[in-house]
Amino acid sequence: MFFFRKKNASDANASSLLAFMGTDLHSHLLPAVDDGVQDVATSVHFITALQEMGIRQIITTPHVMMDRFPNSAATLAGPYQQVLQALQSAGNPISFSHAGEYYLDESLPQLLQQPLMKIFGNVVLVEMSFMSAPPQIFQWLFDIQTAGYQVLLAHPERYNYYHQQPEMYARYRERGCMLQVNLLSLTGYYGKHIKTAAEYLLQKGLADYIGTDLHHHKHLEAIRDIANNRKLRALLESYPFKNAAIPIANVPV
Ligand SMILES: [Fe+2]
Repeated sequence: MFFFRKKNASDANASSLLAFMGTDLHSHLLPAVDDGVQDVATSVHFITALQEMGIRQIITTPHVMMDRFPNSAATLAGPYQQVLQALQSAGNPISFSHAGEYYLDESLPQLLQQPLMKIFGNVVLVEMSFMSAPPQIFQWLFDIQTAGYQVLLAHPERYNYYHQQPEMYARYRERGCMLQVNLLSLTGYYGKHIKTAAEYLLQKGLADYIGTDLHHHKHLEAIRDIANNRKLRALLESYPFKNAAIPIANVPV
């Protein structure tokens, strides 16, 4: 089902807003599997809304967090098929697939007993505690890399404990870990310090990818608001994010 809204000037500005990205590789659009979208109709609505802003491919990434969201390829298969079928019923041919956003903690050895869900190639998306830097983080990254994956760290700018030591971001990249900035971090949506950290990552050329991390309507509205922010749009369109180089995969039939 498509949702229609009244068109206005800002809709016209928004139609190419995310075209620079091409592929969105971080979002929470599978229904009722985490703290993101809770029903299929909203999944289709959000996917359509991203398309209307210029997104051509969505690789959605439900949380995989042992304590709160014990997701796996097996638990996500059903919700994914529901969304895929709803897209097909709506005649929407967008490339839509899923991986996961793995929360790194002591459960990593258990996670690595199964193949991890990859965004594309051998890339896996990971996140970590917002409260404090896990002392073992570089060992964990090494363990994932040793298992044959390339690691992409979600929203490094949102880990407040690095705001006073931004040189840490370069250490991640020196160790082969790629960095993914959240689009809304650059608007100040998550706060001033997070915006500053995101801008630092772009100024230093440390950000590899950008993602929406779209969970709910408030995020969607905040993304739409960027349409009229000419300064930010110029920054987004001039930065060499690698999203555009991700091949557009065929939708599984
Ligand atoms: Fe996320």
